[in-house]
Amino acid sequence: MMTLLEAIGARHSVRHYLPEPLTAAQADALQAKIDEINATADLHFQLVQNEPRCFSRGMAYGQFKGVENYLVVAGRKAPDLDERAGYYGEQLVLLAWQLGLGSCWAGLTYRKQPGRYVLSPGEKLVCMIALGKASGQPERTHRRKTVAQVSNADSDSPEWFVRGVEAALKAPTAINQQKFRFDYLGTDASGRHLVRASRLFSLVGYTQMDLGIAKLHFEIGAGDVQFVFVE
Ligand SMILES: Cc1cc2nc3c(=O)[nH]c(=O)nc-3n(C[C@H](O)[C@H](O)[C@H](O)COP(=O)(O)O)c2cc1C
Repeated sequence: MMTLLEAIGARHSVRHYLPEPLTAAQADALQAKIDEINATADLHFQLVQNEPRCFSRGMAYGQFKGVENYLVVAGRKAPDLDERAGYYGEQLVLLAWQLGLGSCWAGLTYRKQPGRYVLSPGEKLVCMIALGKASGQPERTHRRKTVAQVSNADSDSPEWFVRGVEAALKAPTAINQQKFRFDYLGTDASGRHLVRASRLFSLVGYTQMDLGIAKLHFEIGAGDVQFVFVE
């Protein structure tokens, strides 16, 4: 299986799918990860299979084709729900890529099918993630911001910090807005590296979810080094 860093390098949003079921091995691997996330991160992700209606109508932002499987991203209402949804949802996106499946986060372009998932009292549906075998049709590509535009990296910055920012720049964000920033703040009294991860203003919103996704990519890109995120 490819590494997470390789998955970050290769991943892109997939909106055209072959209307095929997931294999049992793919569904089992995703379900095992969902169970682990729901148990440890207080979320309520759900895998919906063989359900073509949620993404069936072409909508202004993103034209989905052939989506029959998707993840419901949900959890208990909390101030940090969106960031956690991003951080853990992206773990599933990268796992899906490792399993040979394309995916696409969807904040807007879906129609809820309430019979196909459950929300407990106090829980909220955050968004959906379309999932499946890519049809092979070309997908949109995007211009990315640069390391200098989204961080304070310079020639003195630790290499791991730059690698983290580079991985964050490959993260999916709503309408490719990339409204995040990473600053290396040196070390604290006990020698721990400090990294400030912040989000910028966006009229579109979704910046908290985007930041959770970008932080996961940063961690994977930074590798083994010990650092802490500060506000
Ligand atoms: C929180 C979030 C919400 C998104 N919502 C939608 C959506 O509603 N419809 C859609 O087609 N794409 C959606 N996207 C996908 C982005 O447009 C896509 O990630 C971005 O353009 C970068 O492209 P890439 O993922 O191929 O790198 C969303 C992405 C994120 C992270």
